[in-house]
Amino acid sequence: MRVTAYNNVPIPAFMYGTAWKEGATAQLVQQAVTLGFRAIDTANQLIHYREALVGEALLALDQQGMRRDALFLQTKFTPVNGQDHRTPYDASAPLTIQVRQSFDSSLAHLHTEYLDSYVLHGPYSRGGLGESDREVWTAMEELYQSGKTRMIGISNVTAGQLVQLCAEARVKPMVVQNRCYAMLGWDREVRDICRTHGLIYQGFSLLTANRAVMADPDVHAIAKRAGLSPAQVIFRFAMQIGMLPLTGTTSEQHMKEDLQVEQATLFPEEIESIEAIAE
Ligand SMILES: NC(=O)c1ccc[n+]([C@@H]2O[C@H](COP(=O)([O-])OP(=O)(O)OC[C@H]3O[C@@H](n4cnc5c(N)ncnc54)[C@H](OP(=O)(O)O)[C@@H]3O)[C@@H](O)[C@H]2O)c1
Repeated sequence: MRVTAYNNVPIPAFMYGTAWKEGATAQLVQQAVTLGFRAIDTANQLIHYREALVGEALLALDQQGMRRDALFLQTKFTPVNGQDHRTPYDASAPLTIQVRQSFDSSLAHLHTEYLDSYVLHGPYSRGGLGESDREVWTAMEELYQSGKTRMIGISNVTAGQLVQLCAEARVKPMVVQNRCYAMLGWDREVRDICRTHGLIYQGFSLLTANRAVMADPDVHAIAKRAGLSPAQVIFRFAMQIGMLPLTGTTSEQHMKEDLQVEQATLFPEEIESIEAIAE
């Protein structure tokens, strides 16, 4: 199953996230792709990700016949405030150069000539967008227009920032990646903006940010009715309300269960009741 942004580039409907896997990253990415995941999320940020080990997995998969164009690769430009001393670019250079250096280093890590999606890890400004955000976004637009990435996106963004970006940008983001809290109506405000503009909303920490929902008796009853686990119910719910979920599992069993979610169906009244848990 695939979902499509306003520029008609399709993304597999479930994405495998590679944060916090350290030395196990290569083996887990290989396992995830072998089991059926076709979209991989990473970042050029050594604090949380091992992008070069994702690249190692891609080389091994290529040797097994998994072609580059059968996979959807997404990585991020992480501004200096999200990096430690291992910044993958010259942090004293102008921001445009920082973006280009980080992008080129991502291509080298991932052994590819292009990306499917390149995401700004988060705005520099807390409220609204500032000059640094505009400068970085312009550099991202240039990468998109050069054809080196098929989509651009933004992460950790507020509704106000996203409205502003969509209004000011020459190229709107195609992808928005946010932590998705049930208690914020499953990020309803941001999802609504995405729907209006034809952007793909990617939700992360769907399980870890919503432990109370995982334990909710209604979710357990729905899981029992549908023959799913509570985690599968949440991922399926996310898909049915128009989200593209990320999973960060390290377990083979959970990888298989997560992929099965694409074949499941929740009833409209079940979707409504899960949405209501958050109210
Ligand atoms: N843009 C950003 O700033 C940002 C921030 C955070 C994350 N992300 C992206 O989002 C990805 C996912 O984030 P996350 O790790 O917070 O995701 P998550 O899928 O919400 O959490 C994964 C945790 O849930 C557990 N789990 C239990 N049952 C599961 C099941 N059936 N399927 C999946 N997991 C199950 C996992 O344990 P087991 O390992 O035992 O399955 C693991 O501890 C990251 O890897 C990263 O790519 C982006």
